[in-house]
Amino acid sequence: MYNSKIIGLGKYVPENVVTNEDLSKMMDTNDAWIQERTGIQERRWIKEGTDDTSAIMGAKASRMAIERSGLTKDDIDFIVFATMTPDYYFPGCGVQIQDLLDMKNVGAIDIRNQCSGFVYAISVADQFIKTGMYKNVLVVGAEYHSNGLDKTTRGRGVTVIFGDGAGACVLSREEDNTKGILSTHLHSEGKYADKLIVESPSIKHWVPQILESKEEDLSYFPYMDGTFVFKHAVVRFSEVIIEGLIKNGLNKEDIDMLIPHQANLRIAQFIQKKFALRDDQVFNNIQKYGNTTAASVIIALTEAWEEGKIKPGGNVVLAAFGSGFTWASAIIKW
Ligand code: COA
Repeated sequence: MYNSKIIGLGKYVPENVVTNEDLSKMMDTNDAWIQERTGIQERRWIKEGTDDTSAIMGAKASRMAIERSGLTKDDIDFIVFATMTPDYYFPGCGVQIQDLLDMKNVGAIDIRNQCSGFVYAISVADQFIKTGMYKNVLVVGAEYHSNGLDKTTRGRGVTVIFGDGAGACVLSREEDNTKGILSTHLHSEGKYADKLIVESPSIKHWVPQILESKEEDLSYFPYMDGTFVFKHAVVRFSEVIIEGLIKNGLNKEDIDMLIPHQANLRIAQFIQKKFALRDDQVFNNIQKYGNTTAASVIIALTEAWEEGKIKPGGNVVLAAFGSGFTWASAIIKW
C-alpha cells in the first residue's frame, strides 16, 4: 500500500467582488447582520457575460495546480471533480476537465457531496493511489452558485452566504507511509437531507412541472434550516476531527493547521475554542469568499500554503460538514 501526498495546489475565483453593501441594494439585508452572523464581508460572483462556469473555473485552478506540481497534464492518471453546481445535469464536470485541459483519455468522476465534497473527493483519490492503481490524480472542487440563488429578500437567509470559485490539487504516490494523507473519515445521515436542499430541477420535477412552474415555486432555490444545520455542524465537525486524531495517535495539541470548510466564521471559531487552537492554527478566508461549498476547503488550503502557513512535517487537518448531511475529515502529514 502506498500513501498519497499533495504535490501541487491551485485556485481560481472570479474577479467580480460582491460586497455586503452591494447585496443590501438587492434585498433587505445589511453589512452588520451578515458580518455578525457569518463573518462574511464579500464574495465573488461570476459576472454575467463572462465565460466562467464550474468546469471552466475548475480547469483554471487545475492548470495552476498541475504547473505547481512540476508534472504535466499528460502525467495525470485520473480526475475527481466535486461540485453541487455542475454545468450540466449530465455529464459531470470531470469529463469537461479532461477536454478543457486536452488530457489523455483518463477516467473522470464527479462527487456529489456538497460542502464536504472536496474532502470526500480527496479520500476517493487517495484510495486509487493507495492501491497502486493510479500514481497522479487531479482533484478539483468548484461551484457556480450565484446563478442559482434567490436574490430577493425572500432568499436572504441563504443567498448572502454563498460565493463562486474553484480549487484543485494534484495528489501523487508517496512511498513513505508516515507522510502524506494519513487517513480520511467519511460520514452521512440522510434523514436530514431536507434540512439543506435544492429540490429542483430533478427527475421528480422535470419538463412538465418546469413548464407549469410559477414564480412562487421555491424548489429551484437552496433551502436551509440554518439553526438546525448550525447545531449539527458544530457537533459533527468536532467528532470527525477527534476521530481522525485518535486514528493516528495524535492529540489536539498536535494540530499545526486546521482548514475547516468555510460555512460560517462562528462555526470555525467554536471549533477553534473547543480544540484550544491559536489563531495561527486555524485558517479562515470566508470573509473574502463566503461559502464556496465543494471549493471552500481546497481554496483555503491553497491560500494557507501560498501564505507559507503550511510547513513541511506539519499535521494538517481538513474537516467539513454540509448537506446530506455529510461530514468528513482528512489528516495529512505535510
Ligand atoms: N439579512 C438580514 N436579516 C436576515 C437575513 C439577512 N441576510 N437572513 C435572515 N435574516 C433574519 C431572519 O429573517 C430572522 O428574522 P426574524 O427573527 O424577524 O424572523 C433573523 O434574521 C434570524 O434568522 P436566523 O435564520 O434564525 O439566523 P441565524 O442566527 O440562525 O443565522 C445563518 C443564519 C444561516 C447564518 C446560520 O443559521 C448558519 O450559519 N447556519 C449554518 C450554516 C452552515 O453551517 N451550513 C453548512 C453547510 S452550507
